[in-house]
Amino acid sequence: MAKVTVVGAGNVGATCADVLAYREIANEVVLVDIKEGFAEGKALDIWQKAPINLYDTRTVGSTNDYSKTANSDVVVITSGLPRKPGMTRDDLIATNAGIVKSVTENVIKHSPEAIIIIVSNPLDVMTYQAHITSQFPRTKVMGMAGILDTARYRAFLAEALNVSPKDIQAVLMGGHGDTMVPLPRYTTVGGIPVTELIDEETLEAIVQRTKTGGGELVKLMGTSAWYAPGSAAAQMTEAILKDQRRVFPVCVKLEGEYGIDNCYLGVPVILGKNGIEKIIELDLNEDEMALLKTSEKHVKEVMDVLDKM
Ligand code: LMR
Repeated sequence: MAKVTVVGAGNVGATCADVLAYREIANEVVLVDIKEGFAEGKALDIWQKAPINLYDTRTVGSTNDYSKTANSDVVVITSGLPRKPGMTRDDLIATNAGIVKSVTENVIKHSPEAIIIIVSNPLDVMTYQAHITSQFPRTKVMGMAGILDTARYRAFLAEALNVSPKDIQAVLMGGHGDTMVPLPRYTTVGGIPVTELIDEETLEAIVQRTKTGGGELVKLMGTSAWYAPGSAAAQMTEAILKDQRRVFPVCVKLEGEYGIDNCYLGVPVILGKNGIEKIIELDLNEDEMALLKTSEKHVKEVMDVLDKM
């Protein structure tokens, strides 16, 4: 009997809860929000969709009552403000750091064994916040960004090559910001290296568009994305609950991997029942390593901001 809590019933949280329910990834999904009645309403709406879409996952809403979340196997934290046009993700630290801290405190009181997935921004530093607040092992506190950024990259490539996005495999590393590190060298289309199918200029344009992919949507909609982020968090949850041992880029505290210490960055990992089962260390070339180091520097600067708060 798998139980998942999603904190934050806004667009991302509700999308994640919906995917978890209609794909029957969990038996019970508890949606929590501070806004009176909001989570209850969304949970009820998702439950009323069950007879139409044919699933039996129970969805429960709660206005800040964490007792309903007790003994969750996985907790997805989406709480906090989304950015508005003109803002960077880092601009959200002042509001979201306190929110993620208090949500994490509430979560661990009721689910001391849970695996925590952070979605709130600035992603890498909010993962740091949840990790130091929970004091859980680093394998059990992770951030969702790599699947999302990689999905954007894969979607843009599928469009440019006019092929199914299903056939594009890729990995993207680093922080969830403009310093993220897409890796064309590790990108394949049905097993064929992407560099054999696309010219350098088009590929570079896609890499650049991926780096600012979140901002592109904020500009279009006046707020940040939700379908892909919510689905990505649900995919990580599924890998954990079903012990799938899937290989995804995930934000985790590095302790010497890639020659980087005490920094929260996206790297390829194996996700299974214990959370991060293994961090995969790729043999990066000099250019790729330099990009990862730039990303590390940026994330560490924002971690310092949190330390001084
Ligand atoms: C995203 O990449 O869609 C999220 O991090 C939200 C944002 O502000 O870009």
